[in-house]
Amino acid sequence: MSKKVKIGIIGIGTIGSVHADAYAKIPEAEVVALCDILPDRLKEKAARHGIAKTYATHQELLADPEIEAVSVCVPNYMHAPIAIDALNAGKHVMLEKPMSIKAEYAQQICDARDKNGKLLQMGMVRRQAADAQLVHRHIQEGRFGEIYHIGVKLIRRRGIPGMGGWFTTKAMSGGGGLIDIAVHSLDLAMWATNLWKPVKVSAKTYSKFGSPMRDYHFVDMWAGPPNYDGTFDVDDYATGFVRFDNQASLCFEVAWACNAKPESYVEILGTKGGIKLEGGNATFLTEYDNMLADINLAYNANVDGFVAELSKFVKAINGEGEIPATGDQGVIVMKLLDAIYKSCELNREVDI
Ligand SMILES: NC(=O)c1ccc[n+]([C@@H]2O[C@H](COP(=O)([O-])OP(=O)(O)OC[C@H]3O[C@@H](n4cnc5c(N)ncnc54)[C@H](O)[C@@H]3O)[C@@H](O)[C@H]2O)c1
Repeated sequence: MSKKVKIGIIGIGTIGSVHADAYAKIPEAEVVALCDILPDRLKEKAARHGIAKTYATHQELLADPEIEAVSVCVPNYMHAPIAIDALNAGKHVMLEKPMSIKAEYAQQICDARDKNGKLLQMGMVRRQAADAQLVHRHIQEGRFGEIYHIGVKLIRRRGIPGMGGWFTTKAMSGGGGLIDIAVHSLDLAMWATNLWKPVKVSAKTYSKFGSPMRDYHFVDMWAGPPNYDGTFDVDDYATGFVRFDNQASLCFEVAWACNAKPESYVEILGTKGGIKLEGGNATFLTEYDNMLADINLAYNANVDGFVAELSKFVKAINGEGEIPATGDQGVIVMKLLDAIYKSCELNREVDI
C-alpha cells in the first residue's frame, strides 16, 4: 500500500468534521491533529474523531513536522491567510470553497503554491458526483457537439445559513448565496464543459429576506440558530448572464431565499446533445437514427463526494494521480464572482 499521509485539519466546525469522517475512510490518510480557535469545540471534536493532538492556532499546527498536508475548513475570509501560511510552512493544502473572498487573494494562494512547490486542491466536491464525472467524460469525448449555452439554477426557498454569523457578514464571507452555493454550480458548469474563459457578465444581486433579520421566517437553519445581534449585509438572490470568449453563454439564478420552489440543476446545451444535471437524474437528450432520443445514463449515485475528492488529494501527494480541482481554476471562478458583484454595483455589464 502507498504511504500514509499525515494530515491536520484547521477549523473543525461542520465541514471540518465532514473531512475528518471522510479521511477515516481512506486507507492512505491519517488525521493526526486538529486545530480550532474554540477550545470547547476542539476538545469535543478531538474526542469524537479520536484524534490525540490539538492546537489552538493554525501557526502551532503548521509547526508540527509530523504533518504533511492540511485541510483548511475555516470561514471564507481566513482561507487565503491560512492557506498561504500552510504552503509557506511546506504543507500540501486542501482548501474548502470558495477559494477566498476576492480573486486577488486567491491569486496570492496560487503564488504561494508555486513558490513552495506544494500541492493545492480546491474543495469543489460537486465535481466528484458520479453524474458530473459521467457528463464531463461524455463532453470530452465529443458526444455533446459544440456546447453553446449553460443554465444554472440553485434555488432555496428559505435557506439562509448561520444568520447574523460569519456566513451573512460580507467582510467574513465575501458575499451571500452567490459565493456560498453558486460557487459549486458555476465551477461545475465550467469544468464539465471546459469553458474556462468567461469574458463578460451582467448581473443583479438582491437582499430581500435577510434584513431585517427578525422578519425572516424559516423552517430550519444550517449553522443556526440566528444571532440577531450580528450582521446581515450580503445577497440572498442573484441572477446574471455570462459571455464566454467562444460565443457560448451561461445564465444563472441562485437564491438562499426567495418565494419560489426549491430547484437545483446545471443544464448543458450542445449541438449533438444536452443534459440537465439535477442530482439523481441524468437524461441525455439527443437524436438517434433521425429520431429524438432520451437516453437515461446509468451511474452509481452512492459515491461519497468528500471521500472521492480527499482520496484524490492523498493519491496526488503520493504521486499517484492529478489533483481534481486546481487553484488556477479556483482563481477563474473567483474572478467571475468578483465581476458579478461589480456588475451589480455598477448596474451594467462588466469585463471579467
Ligand atoms: N464543500 C462544501 O460543500 C461545503 C459545505 C459547507 C461549508 N463549506 C465551507 O467550509 C468552510 C467552513 O464552513 P463550516 O460550515 O464548517 O463553518 P463552521 O463555522 O461550522 O466552522 C468553521 C470553524 O473554523 C473555526 N475557525 C475560525 N477561525 C479559525 C482560525 N483562525 N483558526 C482555526 N479555526 C478557526 C471556527 O471556530 C469553526 O469551528 C467555509 O469556507 C464554507 O464555505 C464547504
